[in-house]
Amino acid sequence: MSDLRLRLTLTKNYLAKANKLRPTVAIVLGSGLGAVVDMVDIKTAIAYKDIPNFPATTVDGHKGRMIFGRVGATPVVVFDGRLHYYEGLSMEQVAYPAYVAQDIGARFFIATNAAGGIADGYRPGDLMLLRDHLNLLGDNPLRGAQGPGQGQRFPAIVDAYDATLIDLALREAQAAGIRMHLGVYAAMTGPSYETDAELRMLYRLGADAVGMSTVPEVIAARQGGMRVLALSVIANDAMPRRRRRVAAADHVAVLAEVSRAGTSVRRVLEGVIAAISA
Ligand code: HPA
Repeated sequence: MSDLRLRLTLTKNYLAKANKLRPTVAIVLGSGLGAVVDMVDIKTAIAYKDIPNFPATTVDGHKGRMIFGRVGATPVVVFDGRLHYYEGLSMEQVAYPAYVAQDIGARFFIATNAAGGIADGYRPGDLMLLRDHLNLLGDNPLRGAQGPGQGQRFPAIVDAYDATLIDLALREAQAAGIRMHLGVYAAMTGPSYETDAELRMLYRLGADAVGMSTVPEVIAARQGGMRVLALSVIANDAMPRRRRRVAAADHVAVLAEVSRAGTSVRRVLEGVIAAISA
């Protein structure tokens, strides 16, 4: 058995004792999206620090707890507080929630994040569904020894973002009058925000938004065969030639903008979760 499998077994055994709900949907909440938890009828909340082998988080504004409960009739698990590569964790540690989610039987993986808008027409407060990503982290969670039970060594991820889930989310946004884009997310390591030259590079590479997360978990979730949906809140206008009129990216402003979009994110997620359980 690989080290990862061994670590996951301890985590899973602990969670099986602490909680009886069997979630079908796993949700990771990005920075500033803590209020989305309000959509969950909470049964159990467990701090990451109490879960054996769960990596520790350090960033302000990230609480760090696993929440078991229901959205409507659907049993869900919410990772309230994300792990980031810039915290110094390994990619495998950053992807740990995705491994835990699939190990406890969840089949759907929904990731949310804050991102800087790069594409023309993206404005702070807009939402973007990921149709693809650019992994610019220079690393991959699947790098390293892979034991049995780990999934494929070379999983294909051309179809990482589930077309049916995207369709459901687009329809929900349209019905609610929410400005929603469909775009390519570029993952940079951070924690410094991008230089103007880097942002121009990302624009030319075909990125529509830039952030510091999500890609590690999505890769791990796809290796495990989960169906993935990922949603960005455009928190700031990152494109230099437009940004001349507005302030550079700033963590406090980013959190405030994301927090304002919380209701829209909640509405879209509730709609998607209701539809996949119907
Ligand atoms: N760059 C990277 N990550 C981000 C940004 C950004 O402009 N905004 C929110 N997360």
